[in-house]
Amino acid sequence: MLGRLSHVAIAVPDLQSATTKYRDTLGADVSGPKAMPEHGVTSVFVMLENTKLELLEPLGEGSPIAKFLQRNPDGGVHHLCFEVADLVTAKAKLEAEGVRILGSGEPSIGAHGKPILFLHPKDFFATLIELEEA
Ligand code: CO
Repeated sequence: MLGRLSHVAIAVPDLQSATTKYRDTLGADVSGPKAMPEHGVTSVFVMLENTKLELLEPLGEGSPIAKFLQRNPDGGVHHLCFEVADLVTAKAKLEAEGVRILGSGEPSIGAHGKPILFLHPKDFFATLIELEEA
């Protein structure tokens, strides 16, 4: 089921300073910020040769990233995103195995304009997993 590692997401308290650090200190190629109010985040992508990092900053009321940053004020690894060929098939198999899907349980549209789902971290060793249709 699992394809490539799409990205590793890191929650940060200040997206501008995180962008500067990755772009200027580490010399990485960083995309412009993209606001995604439906997910409660503003994100940038750090483009690496073999994968990407997604830097996340809270956006709006009730952002899931705001809660994460209350527990981890300096930021931290927030989720891993894996590509899957067919999200509907993956969802059916996971649900049959008893895996809990977060939110409405239905795919939403992620930062790359593709359908995504999040899996409950309690079902994956305290790691939040995002699946993205490739
Ligand atoms: Co993500």
